[in-house]
Amino acid sequence: MSSEDGADFIVAANRLPVDLERLPDGSQRWKHSPGGLVSALEPFLRSHSGAWVGWPGVPDVDVEEFTEDGLRLHPVSLTADEVRDYYEGFSNATLWPLYHDVVASPVFDRGWWDSYVKVNHRFAEACAKVAAQGATVWIQDYQLQLAPAILRELRPDLRIGFFLHIPFPPTELFMQLPWRAEIVRGLLGADLIGFHRPGGAQNFLWLARRLLGLEPTRGAVGVRTRPGVIQLGDRAVRVGAFPISIDSAGLDALSRKRETVARTQQIRADLGNPKKVILGVDRLDYTKGIDVRLYALQELLAEGRVDPTEVAMVQLATPSRERVEHYQRMRGDIEQVVSRINGEFGRVGRPIVHYLHQSIGRAELSAFFSAADVMLVTPLRDGMNLVCKEYVACRHDLGGALVLSEFAGAAAELTSAFLVNPHDLDGVKNAMHAALTIDPAEGRRRMRALRRQVLTHDVDRWARSFLDALDPEHAH
Ligand code: ADP
Ligand code: G6P
Repeated sequence: MSSEDGADFIVAANRLPVDLERLPDGSQRWKHSPGGLVSALEPFLRSHSGAWVGWPGVPDVDVEEFTEDGLRLHPVSLTADEVRDYYEGFSNATLWPLYHDVVASPVFDRGWWDSYVKVNHRFAEACAKVAAQGATVWIQDYQLQLAPAILRELRPDLRIGFFLHIPFPPTELFMQLPWRAEIVRGLLGADLIGFHRPGGAQNFLWLARRLLGLEPTRGAVGVRTRPGVIQLGDRAVRVGAFPISIDSAGLDALSRKRETVARTQQIRADLGNPKKVILGVDRLDYTKGIDVRLYALQELLAEGRVDPTEVAMVQLATPSRERVEHYQRMRGDIEQVVSRINGEFGRVGRPIVHYLHQSIGRAELSAFFSAADVMLVTPLRDGMNLVCKEYVACRHDLGGALVLSEFAGAAAELTSAFLVNPHDLDGVKNAMHAALTIDPAEGRRRMRALRRQVLTHDVDRWARSFLDALDPEHAH
């Protein structure tokens, strides 16, 4: 819905759901943006006709507001220096590793911080311009944590929500951040601050007390219920846990289509019809533990617990943040293990690991999920992880087995998966072996339980529960 002079419902995220791509011949086209935030929010927003404020994905372009498939898109431009300092720097070399349990060392750079402040102002100003009187603005993720407070100053009439798509770290780690109080103050501009897990909400409440001397409520926060409350003058800020999900029914339907079933068989045939197909699907990110699963496979093969003539592994890896140093190093490491495994255990025309550094379409992805006997999701830390839910949604045949890291937010919901500690390589190997050799009846029992959870807790339910908590008088 939108009134004549502005939109009534706005999502603001660092990225638009589409990225501008410059082709070698100088022409441009829009393509689907990477990552879980867009996968989750795009279907919801399309069915609720809102506006989306975000960056078109390339530096130094000025794109006019446009409508794509019924969705109003409001581009925010970034200069090349801002992409380097705000996006690659502060967002992805400071906050990303800090919030993911410092699995890589965060870099603290004052120039990057200045750029982060400046860009957050620009996003808040863009929202202020687009929003109708009394509109709801839903700000997303770690790149925009200052925007809620800036926007509240500009437009006190708005209802402002904020959702963090990545983990909120333990307080000891957050306290390392030189700008920790500024971030907490920035978030407190929202009426409702959402995290995936109650632990994140609890950590935030503790920090508000410790850093700003505020007096939050003391009770434990529940999932979708019992938010914490921080009173700021006459304004109450609520802090809660809202585990995100996927368009479960949409994926279920896609995986049942005749074309998908045919493509699934084709994929298995292209792989040489191995007895077992193993799959990994991730953005190429060091938090995803892609190396962990490759080392585990390598040892299982070396020990003779897995027969190289009976398995094929596919690793689909979307290119991501390619100019950030940690990402470059990790890519080299992963590609080296892949070639080592293939060098030692492959045969001509039959590599063990099929590694694609590419992004593929949704229909093709659902065929890969359906083709996989074992799905490996082994992040060292992940806010939620949507890939494991997508796999489950595609398995209406009750086939397949999921190996899932305890350190993904999804592990709290998907308890019938083979849960592993990705730091324990023997544990990962044992879980992979168990998943590869599972009794089919036991496999179906587990998959049925997983599907019950994923199909009843979809992205629509997530968004509605957040928006209802943000604006209880207008149930969504
Ligand atoms: P993150 O948001 O950190 O990337 P998630 O697991 O939450 O991790 O979401 C990743 C999203 O990107 C999922 O929707 C997944 O299907 C999609 N994706 C990941 N890798 C690929 C790929 N190679 N091709 C197409 N989509 C991919
Ligand atoms: C994660 C983050 C998103 C981000 C996505 C892709 O899902 O939570 O905010 O958009 O990764 O990363 P990128 O840096 O390419 O936007």
